[in-house]
Amino acid sequence: MQPYLIAPSILSADFARLGDDVAAVLAADADVVHFDVMDNHYVPNLTMGPMVCKALRDYGITAPIDVHLMVEPVDALVPQFAKAGASIISFHPEASKHIDRTVQLIKDHGCQAGLVFNPATPLSYLDYMLDKIDLVLLMSVNPGFGGQKFIPATLDKLAAVRKLIDSRGLDVRLEVDGGVTIDNINAIAQAGADMFVAGSAIFNTDNYADAIAKMRQQLAL
Ligand code: DX5
Ligand code: ZN
Repeated sequence: MQPYLIAPSILSADFARLGDDVAAVLAADADVVHFDVMDNHYVPNLTMGPMVCKALRDYGITAPIDVHLMVEPVDALVPQFAKAGASIISFHPEASKHIDRTVQLIKDHGCQAGLVFNPATPLSYLDYMLDKIDLVLLMSVNPGFGGQKFIPATLDKLAAVRKLIDSRGLDVRLEVDGGVTIDNINAIAQAGADMFVAGSAIFNTDNYADAIAKMRQQLAL
């Protein structure tokens, strides 16, 4: 497993020229495309759906697409995103009536499955699920918008999940999403994360390669 993955959130990309902007961030050494799906129901914002994911694939984007579903209900969108070229599909457990069934649905459609935890969502959802998923995504902001400030209590939560994963010897990614910057990425990695979503800290600069290189430098310390 690659030790650290950088996953730019395309929520902060230029939607008017999305294909080019996603290609540019990948050429700047990003590993994964983080694709935020908001439904104006589970979160108070509205973004993009499976058609946009498919359009990126048709445009020639071959990197893994990490679909973060902030939607309720979840299940109907799973086959659509799988068909549209999603690699990983993650959802918020409280947005699904049958969490185990939704995870199984994602896997049956050939994608990796992740569970997402809001800052106040308890980790108990992992009790019977950690060995059935590929990824745990901890939100370090309340979901719905890019450009928010990292909530420091996430560091302890990351450490708790890292302990759970390692004590069971599982091959599960630990991703963090929200307010990740060059300045805090090292501390976030120290706490146990190995996959980093960053939207504004990459797309709101005029040199993506430089921002990503600086993040990797911090991760190498
Ligand atoms: C928030 C989204 C995040 C967000 C991250 O609901 O899930 O992926 O776009 O953006 P930054 O890095 O700007 O906090
Ligand atoms: Zn996200």
